Amino acid sequence: MGKIIITGGSPLRGRVKISGAKNASLALLCATILASNEVVLENVPDISDVRVMLQIIKSLGAQITWESLETLRIVPPGKINTGAPFHLVKKLRASNLLLGPMLARFGQAKVALPGGCNIGIRPMDLHFKGLTGLGAELSLEHGCVCGSVTERLKGARVYLDFPSVGATENIMMAACLAKGQTLIENAAKEPEIVDLANFLNTMGAKVRGAGTDVIKVEGVASLKGGVRYPVIPDRIEAGTFMVAAAATGGDVTLDNIIPAHVQPLSAKLREANVDVIEGEDSLRVSAGRPLRPIDIKTMPYPGFPTDMQSQLAAMLAVVPGTSVLVENIFENRFMVADELKRMGARIKVEGRIAVIEGVTCLEGAQVKATDLRAGAALIVAGLIATGETEICNATFIDRGYHNLEEKLRNLGASIRRH
Ligand code: EPZ
Repeated sequence: MGKIIITGGSPLRGRVKISGAKNASLALLCATILASNEVVLENVPDISDVRVMLQIIKSLGAQITWESLETLRIVPPGKINTGAPFHLVKKLRASNLLLGPMLARFGQAKVALPGGCNIGIRPMDLHFKGLTGLGAELSLEHGCVCGSVTERLKGARVYLDFPSVGATENIMMAACLAKGQTLIENAAKEPEIVDLANFLNTMGAKVRGAGTDVIKVEGVASLKGGVRYPVIPDRIEAGTFMVAAAATGGDVTLDNIIPAHVQPLSAKLREANVDVIEGEDSLRVSAGRPLRPIDIKTMPYPGFPTDMQSQLAAMLAVVPGTSVLVENIFENRFMVADELKRMGARIKVEGRIAVIEGVTCLEGAQVKATDLRAGAALIVAGLIATGETEICNATFIDRGYHNLEEKLRNLGASIRRH
């Protein structure tokens, strides 16, 4: 699983270019199944989650080549092979986003139920509610979700009990080729939803309202390829660097970002006494003054993102005073607290609430990443701790960050892979 070794104490200084968004890339790759001929996606990050998704889509019959670093050429399958192989699907929950496109384009789908993961049970009831609402027949067979459609999906009105990102994406993709109009109410509003809608519309879909609570889709007969589309920058990678800059008392400028997408984090960092200066497609984080404790509630976008909660906990561990984190999205997303406590943090977790009492400093230790963002949080902790921190299970971090060590070394961090 690999180890990352960090010697803490250096403020991060300089500029870093943010890569394309993991979560947008995974959804857009699934959407390519809908196209009748090849598409090119630009600004795709070369990370392990993307590589697994590429293997899955190839197994369905697509032809995929890296045209250059971060540019992918995808020729969608003319007909679908059997279902995606289990050994790949179980590695990547986002493979469940293939359901909608496969049902819409080929009238059939078989995807292994991805199951839960470390941060929560990750149910799919809202995905199923939407897809059956569009006329798909779904069944669970030997741990796989099997779906079929007689004739063609039909537009429907779907209310999401929770604004699920994945369910919104699955239903939106399926609705593009359904007969008639689909309304998705209480839809997720994340930037990745808007990016997916823009990509679909580039291919001839008719999606309106992405980024609001109500998304309207007019079904069309087919989606054309022959398009090039740049994936949006990764707001969570950007947020991770913003928190690392603030936590180390540094001064870092992030290039190739959309400042509006990280606005919730920028607002909280300003509350913590950090300067955040927004440019057109860049953002500067300068932390020269003592940090203040803050309270965080994770919420669906545009609330504070759950994917940034662990990284902020690492920063707040050494901020004098009491900070309270409330995790409203996933059931089990404070696992990093136990590892931070091994570094000297004082964190008390009760269900969805974590209370952090700031300590003078963290001490380097041997710690383990339990999931992608917990691993990122331990990197932030290692950067501010005294002495050496050894993070094992580092391949969790490779799922969502491209060349993270190199980018941090270029900002002055003492970090290497062992
Ligand atoms: C996406 O996961 C992201 N992953 C996650 O990022 C992110 O944390 C999450 O959205 C929330 O923003 C990708 O885009 C690949 P949800 P997703 O469906 O779609 C409940 C990362 O680190 N729910 O919005 O799976 C669910 O239990 C990853 O990059 C249902 O109840 O998230 C959870 O409590 C981690 N029924 C809440 O909704 C359903 O059918 C949010 O889940 C679906 C979800």
